[in-house]
Amino acid sequence: MTDKPPRYASWTAGKLPLPELVEMKRRGEKIVMVTAYDAPSARLADAAGVDVILVGDSSGMVVHGRESTVPVTLDEIVFMTQWVTRGAKRPLVIADMPFGSYEVSNEQAIEHAVRLVKSGGADGVKLERGGTSVDRARAIVGAGIPVMGHVGLTPQTATVLGGFKAQGRTADRAQQLLDDALALQEAGCFSIVLEAVPAAVARATTQALAVPTIGIGAGADTDGQVLVWHDMLGFYEGHAPRFVKRYAELGEAIVDALGRYADEVRSGAFPEAQHTYAMPEEEREAFEAKESSRAR
Ligand code: KIV
Repeated sequence: MTDKPPRYASWTAGKLPLPELVEMKRRGEKIVMVTAYDAPSARLADAAGVDVILVGDSSGMVVHGRESTVPVTLDEIVFMTQWVTRGAKRPLVIADMPFGSYEVSNEQAIEHAVRLVKSGGADGVKLERGGTSVDRARAIVGAGIPVMGHVGLTPQTATVLGGFKAQGRTADRAQQLLDDALALQEAGCFSIVLEAVPAAVARATTQALAVPTIGIGAGADTDGQVLVWHDMLGFYEGHAPRFVKRYAELGEAIVDALGRYADEVRSGAFPEAQHTYAMPEEEREAFEAKESSRAR
């Protein structure tokens, strides 16, 4: 992988300092975030100039084939965060706190956030919702760990929300969403994800907050954007949320490559001489002589 030119004026080599995100908001520079779940993907995101990598619990659906993010475990996120932090040098790595890892108490939330930072190597953690999560966020920040909030469509509690649907579409719901975001900021969150909310609500929330907002399905006026790796790179056929833009069709490219490999294995066209190890001629002759005397 070759070194890429700086993606923006204030580019720095080495780990992006966390306070730089709020400076980027102040300067009007967009923050680029993407999910990743393993070391090679993290390396590619780093090489592409991504600012923040989220080790999302979306992994439960896009990597592990589950129907929702609810069953994802803390151990899974810890493992994936270890892989991602080995691959990503400059981007901040934020680990999602999976459902069940922070709901019970502030102590539980702190213990698990510490594990994500200490064993996983994360630079910070993300948790979903306002309400009781505000207190959890405050407790984790109090323990010295950066926290990213997440409001709007919160997949861990999609059942309560009536499914994977846009949120904040009435004046009351929009006001509640903005209030939750403000409460999370007041609790010390360094940034807030806004998922599947009307652009007008995301714009007002972004203007009301001093910390940066990262949108997914929240229009163009948030301080940054996040997309899920497998969605944006086209690993799937079939339905994708309307906010997904596919920047590549890697699923098709992979099926094509595997199909050509299968054809060549079956026809004997692969492997060729260049993929094969040779041995010194005299060693081969000696080996063949041994083999033929053994066969007699
Ligand atoms: O888990 C995830 O990937 C997320 C993003 C969609 C923000 O929470």
